[in-house]
Amino acid sequence: MREPRQFCNRLDGKVAIVTGAGSQGSGEGVGTGKAMALLFAGEGAHVCLVDREAARAEDTRARIEAAGGEAFVVAADVTRDEDCRRIVDQTVERFGGVDILVNNVGIAGQQGDFGNFDEAAWEHMFFVNLKSAVLMCRHAVPAMIGRGGGAVVNISSIAGIMAHGTFAYGPSKAAMEHFSREVAVVYGRQGIRANTVAPGHIRTPLVAGLLPESLRETRRKVGPLGVEGDAWDVAYAALFLASDEARFVTGQQIAVDGGVTATGPMAAHSLIMER
Ligand SMILES: NC(=O)c1ccc[n+]([C@@H]2O[C@H](COP(=O)([O-])OP(=O)(O)OC[C@H]3O[C@@H](n4cnc5c(N)ncnc54)[C@H](O)[C@@H]3O)[C@@H](O)[C@H]2O)c1
Repeated sequence: MREPRQFCNRLDGKVAIVTGAGSQGSGEGVGTGKAMALLFAGEGAHVCLVDREAARAEDTRARIEAAGGEAFVVAADVTRDEDCRRIVDQTVERFGGVDILVNNVGIAGQQGDFGNFDEAAWEHMFFVNLKSAVLMCRHAVPAMIGRGGGAVVNISSIAGIMAHGTFAYGPSKAAMEHFSREVAVVYGRQGIRANTVAPGHIRTPLVAGLLPESLRETRRKVGPLGVEGDAWDVAYAALFLASDEARFVTGQQIAVDGGVTATGPMAAHSLIMER
């Protein structure tokens, strides 16, 4: 498995909150939140690991501590305002403040078709994918301002850039990207940067365990690089945006997608047809 081997203290002295820091699914590799938490801790950050399923985040904590890093777990549901407040309060109590917030929690599902439209499922997806980020920012941004500023990194999806046939997932991720821009503009003068990483076709344990090989083959072929990404690809982009190296970068989105969103339909056809 591809894992980071060298660290350069790029987040030395920083305190980070990563939501969805566990990993779900039975396939190989790690989920995005787990990869970011492990990478950030390797780069010197103290990390608050948030997950609704505490056992998933405990595994991340054990790996961080085994490598000499510092982290603790908060079992919380980030769609609940009181949970988001508790996450920030406990992080400030434990590590003295907050410098970085990664809003990684997200769920997929429900295709676009008004014939079987499920209003409750649609609302739930917006709660999990968008409202969670709003609530976390509501509590974390004032704490960051108290330290002179900080970085928000939101995890969206290329489904928020290109239509994927979903009325909930894609629009919720597009809204996430725009929310980042709003935070960047409203709080820029107070030292807050807010950016988005849009993952493309990423091989996480859930994907590796669920998707049929034929679909994974299409996912690989449809981009110029001809490969699926993994969670570390997303984590390295998030690391840059979270670090002081990105001090002049705000209100932006990086697609980590092997070039899929850069590929027009004729080129995609050629890529898929080639042997
Ligand atoms: N995997 C991909 O191919 C892919 C592609 C594009 C975008 N993304 C986005 O990346 C992010 C992470 O996806 P992943 O598949 O790597 O994650 P994952 O499914 O491996 O882990 C997500 C974690 O979030 C936790 N979680 C879910 N709802 C929660 C809630 N309400 N409160 C607290 N914790 C909660 C889960 O318990 C899980 O441990 C998501 O926002 C997803 O939309 C993933």
